[in-house]
Amino acid sequence: MTFKEDFLWGGATAANQLEGAWNVDGKGISISDVCTSGTRYKSKQIIPDLNPAYEYPSHEAIDHYHRYKEDIALFAQMGFKVYRFSIAWTRIYPTGEEDKPNEAGLQFYDNLIDECLKYNIEPLVTVSHYEMPYILTEKYNGWASRKMIDLYLKYFETIVRRYKGKVKYWLPFNEVNSAVAKFGAFLSQGILNGGSKDFMNQVDIPQLRFQALHHQFVAQAKATKLAHEIDENNKIGSMTIYATTYPMTCKPEDMLATQHMNRLMNYLCPDVMIRGEYPTYAESLYKDLGVEIKFEDNDKELLKEGTVDFFAFSYYMSSCATADPNVERVEGNILTNVKNPNLETSEWGWQIDPKGLRYSLNEIYDRYQLPIMLVENGLGANDIMEEDGSIQDDYRIDYLREHIQAMKDATEDGVDLIGYTTWGCIDLVSASTGEMAKRYGFIYVDKDDEGKGTLNRIKKKSFDWYKQVIETNGEKL
Ligand code: BG6
Repeated sequence: MTFKEDFLWGGATAANQLEGAWNVDGKGISISDVCTSGTRYKSKQIIPDLNPAYEYPSHEAIDHYHRYKEDIALFAQMGFKVYRFSIAWTRIYPTGEEDKPNEAGLQFYDNLIDECLKYNIEPLVTVSHYEMPYILTEKYNGWASRKMIDLYLKYFETIVRRYKGKVKYWLPFNEVNSAVAKFGAFLSQGILNGGSKDFMNQVDIPQLRFQALHHQFVAQAKATKLAHEIDENNKIGSMTIYATTYPMTCKPEDMLATQHMNRLMNYLCPDVMIRGEYPTYAESLYKDLGVEIKFEDNDKELLKEGTVDFFAFSYYMSSCATADPNVERVEGNILTNVKNPNLETSEWGWQIDPKGLRYSLNEIYDRYQLPIMLVENGLGANDIMEEDGSIQDDYRIDYLREHIQAMKDATEDGVDLIGYTTWGCIDLVSASTGEMAKRYGFIYVDKDDEGKGTLNRIKKKSFDWYKQVIETNGEKL
């Protein structure tokens, strides 16, 4: 057995990381628009007064807003069956609180979606991918306030009605579990607690983070129910980071630490979004964190009524868990965990583990028995352009080949895998560091970390390789 006939091969991006045009056609300021660039070693800063002394990478990004036709034509050349992108909330409701949507913003996505459909590319839309209106941070401390649920639903309803019949696959939130790690709070929940502007070192109030997560669960459930009412063909996915975790040793204490990590990071959010209720272990998890969730009267029913149709996740790396506090930690986009001596790391310190993907797919499918889409996976690397202008990214091909092989193995194990969108199919701004230098694409974009470059698009070696993978439905790796 191998991939299904109608397997959805493609790529993924997020509006704030590629569109640019941050203040064009009525767009409002998003939380990503107030983040400066950083590096692996120097944290991005959150500087809302838009100080010209800093580089704000989302402001121009790769200018996809004006070049989307060229970019989608390149995706079509690779044979994409699906393209995952996000809609910028601030193009539709610039501050989140307007009564009427911004028509110019909607028109941009009309055009983008039509361009995909022209090539028979199925749009897969992330509704909120780290780009909510920044003003809602200042006014309400983001999702810490329950008011966000209605504001989100107004935006959600606008786009789901507008794209009825054109878009079928929806992801209400990107990596909703990123807020389980404290510096996901600003990016995914707009929580700043009026404190530090250092992206990697925010003022953390766990009670607010987890209460905000509850508000997001309720919003996701209401959105799912609504999307099904608007069009019964709509398919809604939960979308989480799957942080594959192995015990550091076979000590029972390390097993318990692994179980704890799995519950907190990997299962709490999907359990709620798929089963429609908090798992029993949530009570002790929250007690240990000193968190108490305030439910409103009908929250429990709402969670039950809005369960999702498929499981979507991002997978880049794995790590270990231990009860020993003195063991060396390893980096990740949102997470730090314990280093696995058996794995190699990327230039940014992320541990590369294709076999862990097979293991994870099996774990996920055993638990939920829902169709699965892997909607982010890839290697962030510092690509070098050769003298002849080519980019020989064999390391990226190797990474992807091994991960696709792992997907194939999992499919043979019986997992119902329906699609795969590699992250950053065209080079774009890094979410964790704000760099351009951390490239994931099949398509190179001529732009550096200082914002200089022609923005020209150049096919890397991996471009033709991925085209062939799609052409042969994953047979020729
Ligand atoms: C995921 C995010 O966590 O990882 C993306 O959904 C992000 O937005 C991707 O870009 C890769 O992370 P980074 O930090 O290398 O861009």
